[in-house]
Amino acid sequence: MQIAIDGPAGSGKSTVCKMLANRYGLTYLDTGAMYRAATWFSLKFTDEDLPRRLEAVDFIFSENGRRLALSKDGETWDVTAAIRTPAISGAVSRVAANPRVRAVLTEKQRKYAEGNDVIMEGRDITTVVLPGADIKVFLTATAEERAKRRFAEWEGKPEAPSYEEVLESIKRRDEADSSRPCSPLKRADDAALLDTTGLTLEQVAEHIGRMIEAERGGN
Ligand code: CDP
Repeated sequence: MQIAIDGPAGSGKSTVCKMLANRYGLTYLDTGAMYRAATWFSLKFTDEDLPRRLEAVDFIFSENGRRLALSKDGETWDVTAAIRTPAISGAVSRVAANPRVRAVLTEKQRKYAEGNDVIMEGRDITTVVLPGADIKVFLTATAEERAKRRFAEWEGKPEAPSYEEVLESIKRRDEADSSRPCSPLKRADDAALLDTTGLTLEQVAEHIGRMIEAERGGN
């Protein structure tokens, strides 16, 4: 079974997908983490012919998608924490707008899905990566609600940005991701729209869980 979930930053994709992966024994793939890791790679090394260099990079997920390491020419880097910094969040949309980078990562993502029961989340999973998925959902919420959730994740951390900075960064990324010519963030006509404003993530997971059970039951 293939489950594709798209939506903007802070719409709850990651948390909900992890809950569902645990409950239904699915392989979880966070494609945003791959774009973030590609951005980390471009900042650490060089932007020079990034797409070609990325082809030779292995993206290794472990702990069912919770950790990500990159491996190339016998060297391995665990990038789990490094890809969540504000610097990467600020730079990722530019890297993700590159059509050749997208082609390389899309191919890797489709390979993960082959022959596996997957739940894959991102911006173009329902439209480009797995348009034939069994279940397609577009999650959304107001920018303020999404910023509130993202801000809460930073609570207590010394390098935490302010709420206003988080909101600004989310709005900037929404605009960049929705307006790029290549695979923009948009709802597929046949994806279920789920506005999560005012819902708990548990309620969202239950809603999609019912879709999974209906699909498994052959409905
Ligand atoms: O976790 P958050 O919602 O902040 O974003 P993410 O899922 O980690 O994705 C980070 C960025 O990667 C997005 O803002 C997009 O620019 C890009 N992305 C994309 O272009 N296509 C995807 N399938 C997933 C992410």
